[in-house]
This record gives sequence, structure tokens and C-alpha cells, in this order.
Amino acid sequence: MTQRILVLLAHPARRRSRANAALRRAAEGIADVTLHDLYEAYPDFLIDVDREQALLLRHDVIVFQHPVYWYSCPAILKEWQDLVLEHGFAYGRAGTALAGKALLSAVTAGGSEPAYGPEGLNRHSLVEFLRPFEATARLCRMRWLPPFILHGTHLLDEAALARHATAYRALLEGLRDGPAGARPAPPQHAHGGA
Ligand SMILES: Cc1cc2nc3c(=O)[nH]c(=O)nc-3n(C[C@H](O)[C@H](O)[C@H](O)COP(=O)(O)O)c2cc1C
Repeated sequence: MTQRILVLLAHPARRRSRANAALRRAAEGIADVTLHDLYEAYPDFLIDVDREQALLLRHDVIVFQHPVYWYSCPAILKEWQDLVLEHGFAYGRAGTALAGKALLSAVTAGGSEPAYGPEGLNRHSLVEFLRPFEATARLCRMRWLPPFILHGTHLLDEAALARHATAYRALLEGLRDGPAGARPAPPQHAHGGA
């Protein structure tokens, strides 16, 4: 059964983006994939909660696509979570609107994979830094999918970016065409310079 996918893109400086711009181009125009640029929609941060909740209801797979900023997401996606994932809608006894949907984090990071290893600067993997999103999915009774992680963005040349964008597109198409989460778990890590 076709899964409808909502990509929530959070990048505050679209014109300076390379990695997310490439992923965005890859996601744009895929049938049954809705690309929703949060900074474009809400430059003043005044998020329309009813509109966002209605969008969630119309989709099966929700993608948080963003650069990693300070080991988390850019501010608007946090604001979005704070306002849109309301008690009684997303969680709580009567909050079952998102139950059974899937959540995918698709993130880009300046840091290389070794920098996110046990001996690296950041000590923990990005999968660990994404735990709050995983916990949010669980609280909302959503299925947490293995994240798509693009490491070492500063080292990626245009050809590498294009390859990763193609992989992202294939991932979205696979999620759309199959039962969400049925695809194999990793490998989904992409590496700078790869
Ligand atoms: C405010 C800010 C915070 C950042 N924090 C991190 C971080 O915590 N970890 C990391 O690996 N990279 C960090 N970076 C680098 C970005 O993740 C990287 O530039 C981005 O993923 C590249 O994607 P883009 O070309 O779409 O901007 C940060 C960049 C900025 C501007």
C-alpha cells in the first residue's frame, strides 16, 4: 500500500545550504511525497498548529530533515514539536492521532563519523544524539525508523552530494512503496568524501 510521506524540512539559511539543498531537490517532485519547508512557511515562527496537525493526519511517514545544530535540530523544528505535538492529539490517553505512523530523522552533520565515535570529539554517535526524537516517536506511538545520516558535509564534493541525494530519493521511494519500516535496517550512514 502506498505510504504518503511528509518531509518537514528545517534549515534556517536555504541559500547557504549545500547538503540539505541537495536532499531537498532529491525529495521534490516525488509522487506522494509532500515537502514542507518550515522556515519558508513560518519566517516569523508563528506556527499554524491546526494546519500542521491536518498535514500530519494526511500522511503515514513523517520525516524530520535538517542539519544537526548543536547536537539537535534547528530551532523551528523544536518549536514545531512543542506546539504541534499536543497532549490529546499526539500523546496522552486520547492522543492517538499519530499512532501507527512512522518517524524518520534525515540529518546532515558537519562532523565526520569518527568524530562521532567513542574516541572522537563528540564521544557519542548521532544515533545516540537522536534519542530524544526516538523517544518522542515512542511517546506518540509512532514507529522509529533507522535514521538517514549524512556525515562530514564539509568534505563532500558535488558528485558525492549527488550520490547521497540519489540514495535519499531511493529511500523515500522505498518507504512510499512498501510498508514503512519493512526495508532493511542500516546501512544508511553516508560519509564525507565517500
Ligand atoms: C549553528 C550551527 C550548529 C552546528 N552544530 C553542529 C553539531 O552539533 N554537530 C555537527 O556535526 N555539525 C554541526 N554544524 C554543522 C552543520 O551540521 C552542517 O554545516 C550542515 O549539516 C551542512 O548542511 P547544509 O549544507 O544543508 O547547511 C552546525 C552548524 C551550525 C551553523
